[in-house]
Amino acid sequence: MSERELHVLTHPLIQHKLTLLRQKDRSTNSFRRLLHEIAMLMAYEVTREMPTQLVQIETPLATMQAPMIDGKKTVFVVVMRAGAGLLDGMLEVIPGARVGHVGLYRDPKTLVAVEYYFKMPHDMHERDAIVLDPMLATGNSAVAAVERLKETGPRSIRFVCLLAAPEGIRNFHDHHPDVPVYTAAVDSHLNDHGYIVPGLGDAGDRLFGTK
Ligand code: URA
Repeated sequence: MSERELHVLTHPLIQHKLTLLRQKDRSTNSFRRLLHEIAMLMAYEVTREMPTQLVQIETPLATMQAPMIDGKKTVFVVVMRAGAGLLDGMLEVIPGARVGHVGLYRDPKTLVAVEYYFKMPHDMHERDAIVLDPMLATGNSAVAAVERLKETGPRSIRFVCLLAAPEGIRNFHDHHPDVPVYTAAVDSHLNDHGYIVPGLGDAGDRLFGTK
């Protein structure tokens, strides 16, 4: 895998749904549903390089060797809380995957990430980790989440977000050049509060209806 990989997922279905989801008057229900659908579509792209193994099966006509993935080797790592919005869509595509959680909050003054929860499955060294966090803004919480995740020694790590700011991508890849980033769009910049512009606002609040 090459260094500082950035994959912008330009599929028209993803872009169309992202445009709908950005709109400020969209209901919580609709926001959640769109995020779910986008996650399913992103799962196709993120798993493109996933290894397959040939297994023997019987079709109605013959025996054949056919490729299968081992979903149990995948672990989705949810960065709480907004990462949860991407989880169900991903699990619909890879239902056998395991799920880990990282809880981080951004200190409102320093914007630095502080950890409050961390739980991963066993045998992480046998698993490919796909980290889910919709907004790569300053990148501080993503950097901290992946740093912590690396301590568990997963076989590989990919980072999936919905929107990224150029500042966040730079920060993330300065710390983790070995972790590819998958995003549906790279927006213009961060504002003074660390929000992505034009962005979509606070992903957690919009997902859970807490504002
Ligand atoms: N987190 C969000 O939910 N939105 C942003 O724009 C930045 C961080």
